[in-house]
Order: sequence, then C-alpha cells, then structure tokens
Amino acid sequence: MVDRHRPRRTCLAVPGSSPKMIDKARGLDVDQFFLDLEDAVAPLAKAPARETVVAALNEGGWEGKTRTVRVNDPTSEWAYRDVLEVVEGAGSALDTIMLPKVGSPDQVHWLDLSLGQIEKAIGLEAGTIGIEAQIEDARGLVDVDAIAAASPRLETLVFGPADFMASINMRSLTVGEQPPGYDVGDAYHYILMRLLMAARARDLQVLDGPYLQIKDIDGLRRVAGRSAALGLDGKWVLHPDQVDAVNEIFSPRQEDYDHAENILDAYEWHTSEAGGKRGAAMLGDEMIDEASRKMALVVAGKGRAAGM
Ligand code: GLV
Ligand code: MG
Repeated sequence: MVDRHRPRRTCLAVPGSSPKMIDKARGLDVDQFFLDLEDAVAPLAKAPARETVVAALNEGGWEGKTRTVRVNDPTSEWAYRDVLEVVEGAGSALDTIMLPKVGSPDQVHWLDLSLGQIEKAIGLEAGTIGIEAQIEDARGLVDVDAIAAASPRLETLVFGPADFMASINMRSLTVGEQPPGYDVGDAYHYILMRLLMAARARDLQVLDGPYLQIKDIDGLRRVAGRSAALGLDGKWVLHPDQVDAVNEIFSPRQEDYDHAENILDAYEWHTSEAGGKRGAAMLGDEMIDEASRKMALVVAGKGRAAGM
C-alpha cells in the first residue's frame, strides 16, 4: 500500500535491460531500487526490457527493499505499454512506479487512473501501487505544488539533476556539481528548497538524483551531505561503491541520534512528572519544549528506521 514513510536513504538505479545488473542489485544494501525502462534503456531494447523487468520482480529476492519501476516519459510512445505490461505482469511484486519528466498534474492523473484500472483488472486492492514523480525541468518545478497534490498515490518527488541542468541551460557538464563560474552560493539551493516545500506541504518525501562521478566518493559525500542537511530523505546511487557513503550520510550521526532520544526521554519525563502542566524543561544546559520534541522526533525517526 502507499507508504510515505519508507526508508529511502539509498535508491539504486538499475537498467531494466540488464539481467546481470539486476541480479547484482539483489545483494546490495540499499533501501530502494528502481528498474529503469527510461534513459538507461535504448529505444530498440525497451520492449524486451519490459519482459526482463517483469520476470525480475516476480522472481523475488528483494526483501527489505522498496521495489520501483521507472517507466518512460508520459509524452513518449512507450509509457502506456510500460505501465500496462509491468503492472499487469508484476503488480503484486511492485511497490511504486516512477514517472520521469513530470511537467503537469494531468500526467500524474493519467498514471493514477491507469494504475486504478489495472489494479481492478488483476484483483489488487485499490491504491496499492504508489507513484514517484520526477521533477526534471523548469515546467515541472513551476507546477510542482499542483503536481505534489495530484494523487493520493504520490509518495515522493524526485529531483532529476541531469535533465534539469539541460532544461535550464545550466553551464555545467558534471551532474550534481556546482557550475563553474558560479561562486556565490549553491546553484541547487532554490530548486531543492522548492521541491522540499511542495513535498512536505503534502507529507511527501524528496529524493535527490544521481551523482555521475562514480569514482569521486568525496564529491558524492559533499553533494549528498548538502541535501541531507536541508532535509531530503535520500539520494540515488548508480554503483555499489556509492552505497555505503549515501546510507551513512542520510542516517543521523550517532551522537545526534542519541541526543534526540535523550530529548524525547527527558521531555516525556518532565512533562509527565508535572502532571501535564509544564511545557518546557531543562536537559543539562539546554531548554527543551514542544518544538524541540518535534525536531528530535525527526532525527530519532530516521535513526530508528536505519536500525540505530
Ligand atoms: C535523472 O533522471 C536525471 O535526469 O538526473
Ligand atoms: Mg532524467
């Protein structure tokens, strides 16, 4: 069923046309994976890739991971058949469909309606399959509030930096990195904040997209660290070498997790001690109140989900 609180620190991109890479993905320690039918798959390989994806989902071996398929762009000639074949063939072995290049809420409505029809036809409970909307161009970002509100199936908004950089003519060829010459701040700050506001207003998660410099783990840590600090829930990974760093960065640091649990315990103890009449309390030299409890719950919740 639709679940907006799944752990999603790492979301592994896997080409749907490669049985070898799909098999390897089963053994990786990621929270989520998606089998791609879009940009990682050449036009002539798309039809056979649908069959590979259906078989891989039905074969199983994905315990503990959120199972996602990225279909093609909703304006392409492939998208309707991707949805039909994948959900008819493997609907009960699938958690969400990722829709790339979402430019307007009606594209999400289309997917929502299609999923409802197929769920009925194959006897799945209504609303079982969730939707992840990739925001990858200026049009999607300008309409992001309406997109985030377009379906109760939505679980996440996903930033697509490569397509986005191309769409706004950003002068960089290194996906996720700052464009050379822009030295007055973070060129992605506005975009990520915009996504975060639209998503959180609808209780959705937000994922950062890929970092293509596979060998540069320090660069990956820097970029992922910024997104995690802002409040994003996770990031795509493209290679096994990226997994540990991203899992670690999107989990709270141990001392922050311990501190959050201490705040929750202390606040609970002080307020119940006062018979529910006290709103603020001291934890060492720190004043804590109801807002501190909420902040601590966010960090503790992420830590608990990460098994800390
Ligand atoms: C991912 O789809 C991207 O465009 O970065
Ligand atoms: Mg893209």
